[in-house]
Amino acid sequence: MFSFNKLTVFATVLAASSVVLATPASVKKRAALDVFVPPITSPVAGDVWVVGQQKNVTWDTSNAPAHITNPIGQILLAKGGPITGDVLADGFDILIGSIEVTVPDVVDGDDYAIILLGDASNYSPEFTITHSA
Ligand SMILES: *[C@@H]1O[C@H](CO)[C@@H](O)[C@H](O)[C@H]1NC(C)=O
Repeated sequence: MFSFNKLTVFATVLAASSVVLATPASVKKRAALDVFVPPITSPVAGDVWVVGQQKNVTWDTSNAPAHITNPIGQILLAKGGPITGDVLADGFDILIGSIEVTVPDVVDGDDYAIILLGDASNYSPEFTITHSA
C-alpha cells in the first residue's frame, strides 16, 4: 500500500545516509527493525474534521524500541497524497502518543491525511475536512 512504499523509501534513504554519515559501530546498532513507525490510531478513515475545531491526533507507542533515532515529532497535513504545507504540530516527544491540533482553514475535501514524522514517516487513513459542521 501507499504508506508501505513511503516507509520503504524512507528506510532505504535512512540506511543509505547511515552508511555515509555514521561510524561502522553505529551502523551496526541501527538495525532496520529499530526504526519506529507508530501506527496512527486517530484520525481514522471517514472521520470528519471541521475547520477551527480542536482534534486529538493519536498514535500507538507500545512497540517503541529502546533507542529512537529521532524522538522529536512533527504532524503535517497531506491532501490526495502530497503534503499541503500545513504544520499542525511540531517539537513534541514522539512517545507522548497524542497531541491536540487545530483543524487548519483549508479547502473542503475528503482526501486529507495526517503525516506523523519522527523516526520515520507514517500516513493516517484519509478523512474529511470541511467548513460546515
Ligand atoms: C485530547 O485528549 C486530552 C487527554 O485525553 C483531553 O483532555 C482533551 O479533551 C482531548 N481533546 C479533544 C479535542 O478531544
